[in-house]
Amino acid sequence: MKTIRIPVFIEEFDVNELPEDILRLKEEAEKARENAYAPYSKFKVGAAVMLDDETIVTANNQENAAYPSGMCAERIAVWYAGAQYPDKKIIKLFITARSSSQTLNKPVPPCGACRQSIAEYEVKQHQDIEIWFMGETGKIWHSPSLKNLLPLVFDGSDL
Ligand code: THU
Repeated sequence: MKTIRIPVFIEEFDVNELPEDILRLKEEAEKARENAYAPYSKFKVGAAVMLDDETIVTANNQENAAYPSGMCAERIAVWYAGAQYPDKKIIKLFITARSSSQTLNKPVPPCGACRQSIAEYEVKQHQDIEIWFMGETGKIWHSPSLKNLLPLVFDGSDL
């Protein structure tokens, strides 16, 4: 038997340390978050992706009375970018969440299904996607690739 270690890392930022383009992406994600349709969870998520030509695409979570029919902000953002700009690469993704029941001051990471969907795009475009995520306030966490959030990814090479 041998132990296989898979190291991952996250970088933590204060808002005043964010690069200019990430601040812009954060603002866009916050605007999108406020338009989320989340009447059931009251947990609003906004996502903003930046493409390789600096186009920004935003989305938010969309819920449904039949709960599983809803969808997360991140997947809508990434799929919308894929649908509208199939030849452009997604280079950055910013995620922010706000709850009506508590102040979210810890970074809120993308759920497992969203990680898998984002991973598909890293594989498709042969380029890493920077993931930036936060709650409503507080620290912002950054990973230069989705791989830090989903190290043992299942992708097309496994089929
Ligand atoms: N949600 C997202 O939009 N992204 C995530 O990564 C986690 C969860 C949404 C789905 C649902 O509308 C609400 O947050 C509560 O789970």
